Amino acid sequence: MKTEIKKIGFESIIEEINKLQTDTVLIIADHQVWSLYSKDLNLDQIENKKVLFWKAGDGEKVKNMTDYQSAVEFFLEKGIHRNAHLVVIGGGATSDFGGFVAATILRGIQWSVFPTTLLSMVDASIGGKVAINSKSGKNLLGAFHLPTNVWVCSKFLETLPAVEKSSGMGEVLKYCFLDYTIYDLVIRKSEMSEIIDACAKFKEKLTKEDLKETGVRRILNLGHSFGHAVEFIYNIPHGEAVMWGMALIFKLFGTEKNINDITALKKALEIPGDHSPWFNKEFPIDKIMMYLSKDKKISALSSIDLVLIKDIGNAEVETISFEKIQEVMEANKDELRKFTL
Ligand SMILES: NC(=O)c1ccc[n+]([C@@H]2O[C@H](COP(=O)([O-])OP(=O)(O)OC[C@H]3O[C@@H](n4cnc5c(N)ncnc54)[C@H](O)[C@@H]3O)[C@@H](O)[C@H]2O)c1
Repeated sequence: MKTEIKKIGFESIIEEINKLQTDTVLIIADHQVWSLYSKDLNLDQIENKKVLFWKAGDGEKVKNMTDYQSAVEFFLEKGIHRNAHLVVIGGGATSDFGGFVAATILRGIQWSVFPTTLLSMVDASIGGKVAINSKSGKNLLGAFHLPTNVWVCSKFLETLPAVEKSSGMGEVLKYCFLDYTIYDLVIRKSEMSEIIDACAKFKEKLTKEDLKETGVRRILNLGHSFGHAVEFIYNIPHGEAVMWGMALIFKLFGTEKNINDITALKKALEIPGDHSPWFNKEFPIDKIMMYLSKDKKISALSSIDLVLIKDIGNAEVETISFEKIQEVMEANKDELRKFTL
């Protein structure tokens, strides 16, 4: 199974849906996106297909069991079959949700996506990880189910709030350390559409090699374990948290060059905020340790796999004990209070 990633213009959206080899199209669209774009997207122009439309609560709100039940019951009641095709229009939350519906309804139907946030264009819509949340945590009910098409239409970015834009930039920053071509595009301040394309293709390539994240795909987790801890402790946007997660890894286990690179890339991507969230405060070692020990990606009780960067484009996964992480944070806690990028 392969995903086709294609750049398209806004005017081609209905045309792409019309080309799907099915007589039944299920559409799940983000509430906010739909209110902004529906006047220019006429679903009546979808020809010779039954169209079933379900509107999702905006963003993360939809990734719950009640909405999951409501969406699947809606589609099942209306009558669908195994060759129906589900189309998602929205950011990463809507594609995680819609992809999970597609993975499970009738034991799995095909799906495609129009990502509408920067983060979903470079990351969330690619790679087939689909999920909803449980009371016990994020993304705990899920599947691997690759989309058939990812149609990237940059017009959607025109209405993206600044905070969502910088969230996507945090993920772009991550790719710069994993792939020299992306690093070079960003440092040369290339067109955003070219950068998005390179990030999406890079993720797609890793996914093809390692769908279930047991090998090379793990490098995509760069900065994420510490990032999630920082995100929850300080309640800051995901991409910004991933950036500080990376910065922490570099400070604690990396090199001076890593820090110089992240500073230059942050500037090139115009990511705001130079002071770390813990600047001039006590560095929260206990809380970070608590979140690290609950991370979904731990594979043993006393250690965690962290992605370290030897140089741009050269990432390695190292297993590091929690004891060692705590020791290194204790040794650096005074210096960390003054940490800026
Ligand atoms: N499956 C994966 O591999 C993967 C990877 C990374 C993140 N994720 C998931 O992605 C989710 C985050 O996704 P996201 O950052 O794309 O945000 P999102 O989907 O949560 O959307 C964020 C907000 O932006 C709004 N929005 C979306 N597109 C818009 C547009 N074009 N104009 C105006 N507003 C718009 C939404 O209504 C929402 O309020 C999380 O649930 C995370 O777990 C999944």
